[in-house]
This record gives sequence, structure tokens and C-alpha cells, in this order.
Amino acid sequence: MTKKKLLLLPGDGIGPEVMAEVERVLAWLNQSGRAQFEYETDLVGGCAYDAHGEAISDAAMDKAHAADAVILGAVGGPKWANVPYAKRPEAGLLRLRKDMKLFANLRPAICYPALTEASSLKREVVEGLDLMIVRELTGGVYFGEPKEIVTLESGERRAVDSQLYYEHEIDRIARVAFELARARGKRLASVEKHNVMRTGVLWKSVVTRVHEDYKDIELTHVLADNCAMQLVKWPKQFDTIVTDNLFGDVLSDLAAMSTGSLGMLPSASLGAKDANGRRPALYEPVHGSAPDIAGKGIANPIATIGSLGMALRYSFDLGKEADLVDAAIAGVLAKGLRTPDIMQDGMTKVGTVEMGEAIVGELKRLA
Ligand code: NAI
Ligand code: MG
Repeated sequence: MTKKKLLLLPGDGIGPEVMAEVERVLAWLNQSGRAQFEYETDLVGGCAYDAHGEAISDAAMDKAHAADAVILGAVGGPKWANVPYAKRPEAGLLRLRKDMKLFANLRPAICYPALTEASSLKREVVEGLDLMIVRELTGGVYFGEPKEIVTLESGERRAVDSQLYYEHEIDRIARVAFELARARGKRLASVEKHNVMRTGVLWKSVVTRVHEDYKDIELTHVLADNCAMQLVKWPKQFDTIVTDNLFGDVLSDLAAMSTGSLGMLPSASLGAKDANGRRPALYEPVHGSAPDIAGKGIANPIATIGSLGMALRYSFDLGKEADLVDAAIAGVLAKGLRTPDIMQDGMTKVGTVEMGEAIVGELKRLA
């Protein structure tokens, strides 16, 4: 078995606590002979700034490029509030995304049966939900030029952000989404606003053209505002959604909340495959460094363990093992184990380490 190389970047706050539980799962994968992972750890965020004055070192970036996948905990916290802008903890994460050219952000929204009650939506609306939102991450209105605030002669200020997309940017994100849809429920909803935006017109036309290569996938075009309504009304009508950077930012957070807690949400950010089929990839929980609970041993490690699960599926072709991780998470929840963020009446409150140990116990039982 060829060794797979991972770089772990625990980061700040609860990052190291939840990453320790990822290491526990990795150790089990190695011991069980299901995979051979080689992993090393480095600094990112505020802890990296404290150590060498940069939110990520060139050496850590080199390791990220050399690894088959990177798993990150979280960065930031009040301790670094006054650090110069270019060196703030988030700059480490932004550099990783930029230098690894991660243009596709995958945000699943899964509602575990045991947690249906934690959602603010009705049981029948969210029960069994398994949705994937694919957000374009490197183009669109967050990056388009011009982007400025100008003071006019009258003294009034005018601000502009430009929504800008090239065909190739839409083409490549559409292909990622069609591939994902093919491995899932074979349905893709492309979300834009072609009724009022030129980028929406181009988006729709490029996605329609790419569909020619994925005729086995059912494609629908949904206007972004309607998509927001439908996600609250009946999210199970969707399987895979592909959308731009701005709509994706909003819709993925909206969809995520149907599952109840930030501590449950994994994500993946992928780049383009090279000639050898290698794809740069960064996996991380959606949540931040949670300074309010850091060091208390109560952080929910499921989002980060779920991010490892996504790495197994999307970087290492270990779909069976990824299914096992998902089943182990569902299993411990079904047994009633809860970290405080997802605690419900009558359930058993556990800490970070106990949750990680229980997930490995469940993996052993299921395997
Ligand atoms: P946050 O996600 O860190 O925390 C929001 C709330 O959710 C807090 O009450 C926290 O205790 C809770 N929470 C988050 N993850 C949890 C987990 N795994 N288990 C249990 N509870 C959890 O967001 P916040 O407070 O806005 O930001 C805190 C710091 O994290 C800031 O410095 C921010 O810049 C940074 N941040 C970093 C991100 C990243 O590294 N990707 C993303 C979001 C924020
Ligand atoms: Mg957001």
C-alpha cells in the first residue's frame, strides 16, 4: 500500500483539541490496515505568528504543496486582535487557499437522524437531509475589479464591488459539481440570477454547455432568491447545488443551519487536477477557533473528524472508509452521546476526548 501524505494544521483555540481526535481516527485507520497515512503537523494562524511573525511560514506552505491533502483546525482569536492586517491569523488560511488555487468549496448539509430535533426546521423537512453545496471560491464579487470606495467631488462617497466571471472559471466549477452529482443523487441545481445579472446569463449558458458532457445528470436552473426559499421550505428537493462565490457563501450557511450546530459541519476546498491526477485539497471544519470554550475540553470534534471523512472520499478514493466514519458519527449520536453544543434532554454529556474515543470505538465495532 502506498503511503498517503497528510499535513495537519491544528491552528488556534479549539483547533488543537479537535485535531487530536482526527489523529485518533487516523491512528485507527493505520492500525486497522485500511490505509497507510503518514502525517506531520505545522503551525498556522496566531500560533504561527507568535512563533515566527507570519501566519504561515514558507516551510509550512512547501509541506502543504507536497502533501496529498491538508487538514486544518481553525485560526484566530482575541489575542491577535491588534496584529498588523497582513499578518493576522486569517492571512494564513487565505494564503493556503490562494497558493493552492482552491476554487471549489464543498459544503455538505447532512441531518443526522438523532439530531433532527436540534434543527429549527420541522422534523419532516430535515429528516434524512443529505445535500451538497458547491461554491465557487476564487472568483466573483469578492475579488472582481474595480473594488473601491471613492469620494466624489460633491463629498459623497461611492463604493463598488464587481461581480466578474470568466468562462473557464464557470466551466471548471461546473465540472466539479457534475462529477460530485454523478457520485451522489445524479441531480444538479445550478443557481444564479440570469434575470438581472450578466454573470448569471454567462453562468447559465456555460453550465448548460458543460451538461453536454454529463447527460446522465438531471440539471435544473434555479434563481438564487428562489433557491433560498426552497432550502427552507423543502431542502430535500435538492441533491447537489452549484453556485457562485457570493450566493454560495450565503446559501451554504443557510442550508447548514438545518443541521443544528456549527460543531457538526465539515468542508472541503479543492483545486484543479494536475497531469498526474493529483488535486490540491484542504479540509476544515466550518467553525472558527471558538475562544469562548478553548482549553475546556468540550469542543465538538465531529466537524473536523467529518472533514477527515471528506478527505478519505475526495482525496484518497477511500469511499468505504469515509462511509464508515459517517456511520460511526451517526452511531455515537444514536447512542445519545452529546458535546455541550448539541446537548439535548435525556442525552449523555461528553467532552472532546470522550467523543473522539467513542467514534473510534464505533469504528472498531462497525469495521
Ligand atoms: P466560532 O465558529 O469560533 O464560534 C461561534 C460559536 O460556536 C461559539 O459560541 C463557539 O463556542 C461555538 N462553536 C464553534 N465551534 C464549535 C465546536 N466545534 N464545538 C462546540 N462549539 C463550537 O466563530 P466566532 O466566535 O465568530 O470566531 C472566533 C474566532 O475564530 C475569530 O477569531 C474568528 O476570526 C475565527 N474564525 C476562524 C475560522 C477559520 O479558521 N476557518 C472561521 C470562523 C471564524
Ligand atoms: Mg460565510
